[in-house]
Amino acid sequence: MATKSMNDLFLATLRDIYYAERRLLKALPKMAHAAENEELKQAFTDHREETQQHVERLQQVFEAIGQRARGKTCEAIEGLIGEVEELLGDAPTPSAVRDAGLIACGQAVEHYEMARYGALGSWAEGLGHDEAAKLLQLTLAEEKAADALLNQIAIDAVNGDAVKAAA
Ligand SMILES: [Fe+2]
Ligand SMILES: [Fe+2]
Repeated sequence: MATKSMNDLFLATLRDIYYAERRLLKALPKMAHAAENEELKQAFTDHREETQQHVERLQQVFEAIGQRARGKTCEAIEGLIGEVEELLGDAPTPSAVRDAGLIACGQAVEHYEMARYGALGSWAEGLGHDEAAKLLQLTLAEEKAADALLNQIAIDAVNGDAVKAAA
């Protein structure tokens, strides 16, 4: 599809994040499983639930603009998930080091989503897709909260343990 207008760009980017969210539904349980820190495990598990909602909200956004919900391969998320797989494939020990790596990967994903939802939300507003804008901003707020929680877990526990373990 040629991107000739803001509406085209909006739709193409919507398909990108729809693909990414559905990809994350499969990746987050693996991240939760690999996490040793209980709080981190819970954070990934809870965010998997939120991600299910993000997928459903995106379906509502597609519907609100009269389009069929459809994803388009997002190379960025493939790359970010590839980094998670690389980390787990290397299986760094001790586990606090692996958890620190998982948090960094998780935050990279949240930042990607924040960038996408930030752009989509303001484009939707500009294009007069008010219902879509509202839904996108709701998800943006949850991505920000997920990022802040990961940051807090890193500060509270994981990074300190990881540095001690690595010393
Ligand atoms: Fe999401
Ligand atoms: Fe997220």
